[in-house]
Amino acid sequence: MRTQVGIIGAGPAGLALARILHLQGISSIIIESRSRDYIENRIRAGLIEDWAADMLTDIGVGERMKREGLVHWGTNIGINGEIHHIDFKALLNKRITIYGQQEVVKDLVERRLADGGELLFEVGGVSVHDLKSDRPSIRFAHDGQDKVIECDFIAGCDGYHGISRPSIPDGILSVYERDYPFGWLGILSESPPPDDELIYSYTDEGLALYTMRSPTLARLYLQCDHDEDVAAWPDARIWEHLHKRLGGARKLQEGKVLQKGVTAMRSFVVEPMQYGRLFLAGDSAHIVPPTGAKGMNLAFADVVMLSRALEAFYSKQRTDGLENYSKSCLKRVWNAQRFSWWMTRLLHRFPDESAFDRRRQLSDLTYITSSEAAMKSLAEQYVGSPPN
Ligand code: APR
Ligand code: PHB
Repeated sequence: MRTQVGIIGAGPAGLALARILHLQGISSIIIESRSRDYIENRIRAGLIEDWAADMLTDIGVGERMKREGLVHWGTNIGINGEIHHIDFKALLNKRITIYGQQEVVKDLVERRLADGGELLFEVGGVSVHDLKSDRPSIRFAHDGQDKVIECDFIAGCDGYHGISRPSIPDGILSVYERDYPFGWLGILSESPPPDDELIYSYTDEGLALYTMRSPTLARLYLQCDHDEDVAAWPDARIWEHLHKRLGGARKLQEGKVLQKGVTAMRSFVVEPMQYGRLFLAGDSAHIVPPTGAKGMNLAFADVVMLSRALEAFYSKQRTDGLENYSKSCLKRVWNAQRFSWWMTRLLHRFPDESAFDRRRQLSDLTYITSSEAAMKSLAEQYVGSPPN
């Protein structure tokens, strides 16, 4: 098989890249280790930044998001039950859109198939070769046969557990990481969320986040131990904590729990995001804790930058965009890392915190929810800005 860009992984990064390249007249083949059904039903976060919603519309996959996504012009921060509103519209005239990541994936897969583009599911034994040459290749097995894709470039969009990053020889990448001493227990509940907008609720018991997928489907998270066993959280215990951490200012309706899982919280970055003709994009190069909801948005920003660099290469034989890809992405990645770390530190209880730390944290929360300058700064980072 021969193509211009071989794409490993059909998550938001790989699928959005393929669509943008298609619009630029650049050919690609996507290979994905899971089934279509699996990737379309994997529950992840679901917050789309202002510019990213416009980008999805511009590339022709925003129609259902416009219909079914929930547009929020603000968010809420609770401090031990006292709820404060942050008004994105008044501060910046920008919004975020709540639309599940798996819905974005469904729309992108449908678009890819309508484009007649190749998208192979359930591939195995994926490996990459000749990364330092101008004819790299991807080997894999599909339908019981060994296959090879010869290409000009490889986009490693295969997430944190993929093979792209580990295929880069030892000694090339620097790894920067931080584990947090807690995780998030998340449920999807057949019940209305307690507010039209999100509530990040800081309490003595730890954080709770009240978000949603629709007016009748709540997505609810609780700060829990780092290696929490889901079995320790029967539904009754989850609801008890969700009620307690919301406080009296809103009512929380209980519903049937459709899904339950624990996410570990970590920050992770590799530098550089390129080796020869292999370009890493999305979770294969960086992970953020979900507090700032930056994961999917960063993946989109990477592939927007990569597609620009590839377009300049193919239409003008320019290589500067490709050479600067890693540097340009990492600037944004570190900004998102800083913001996600800051939000995480602001809103969680830490096991090793001192009485001083706690007073300082409460004062931080009061500042963030009362100073217009501080609210504007939070809002600006939260709603995001387009890759430049
Ligand atoms: N070969 C082919 N595909 C692979 C391989 C492999 N060896 N390893 C992993 N994959 C696939 C995974 O099955 C997954 O579908 O790569 C895809 C990577 O997708 P994501 O993990 O969704 O990563 P990305 O597209 O970078 O999107 C980042 O995902 O994890 C969330 O919070 C994160 O929202 C962020 C977003
Ligand atoms: C979600 O809706 O799943 C969500 C929203 C905001 C976050 C994290 C997750 O910060």
